[in-house]
Amino acid sequence: MLKLVVCVSGGGTNLQAILDSIDNGAITNTEVAAVISNNANAYALTRAREHGITGICISPKQYESRESFNRAFLKQIDNFEPDLIVLAGFLVVIPEMMIQKYRNRIINIHPSLIPSFCGTGYYGLKVHEGALERGVKVTGATVHFVDEGTDTGPIILQQPVMVEAEDTPEILQRRVMEQAEWKILPQAIDMIANGRVEVINGKAVIADNGKS
Ligand code: GRF
Repeated sequence: MLKLVVCVSGGGTNLQAILDSIDNGAITNTEVAAVISNNANAYALTRAREHGITGICISPKQYESRESFNRAFLKQIDNFEPDLIVLAGFLVVIPEMMIQKYRNRIINIHPSLIPSFCGTGYYGLKVHEGALERGVKVTGATVHFVDEGTDTGPIILQQPVMVEAEDTPEILQRRVMEQAEWKILPQAIDMIANGRVEVINGKAVIADNGKS
C-alpha cells in the first residue's frame, strides 16, 4: 500500500481528483495519510477533513527562520512515514534536505508542458498568462519528480491541451485542470503505487502494464 502525504496551498481540486480516484478505483494500492498546507484557509484542508483525512497547517510565517520552518516541516512529513509526497499546488519551496531524504519520492503537478512556462515565477495563472502571451497553440500539464531545481526533475507524464482563440488565463487554467491535471496526477500515482515508474539515468521510465 503506497502511503501518500499531499501538500497543498489552495483550492485542492487536484487533491480532490486524487481522493475521487482512490474512491472509484482509478488509483489502486494507495492511501492518503495526511494533507499538509501552508495556508490555514486553503479549501484543500476542508476537502481533506470532509474525507476523514488529517489536515495540518504549517507555515514559514509561524517560524523565526526558514531553517527552523524547514526542520519542522520535514519532521511533520517524517511523522507520517510516507512512501510518496505529492505537491498539488504547493507554493512553498521544498527544503533541499527533504529532497535528498525523499529522492525520487516527491512528485509535482505543473500546469504546462515542461520545459515551457516553468521555473521561477511561473505558477498558477502566471503559467497560462505566459502561454497566451507567447501565442502557443498547445499547452498542457506535466507530472515530474522533484529535484533541487524548480520544475526540473524527471518527467513522468504529460498531457497536451489545445489553446482556443478566445481563451483567457482563467478559461485556459480550467481546461488544463479538467483535461490534463486531474487525469495525469492520479494516473502517475497509480503507476508509482504499482511499481511501474523507475528513474534511470535521470529519466523516468514507465514499465508497460501488460494490459494492452
Ligand atoms: C493547479 O493549477 C496546479 O497545476 C498548480 O496549482 C494549482 C493548484 O490547484 N500547481 P488546486 O489547489 O489543486 O485546485
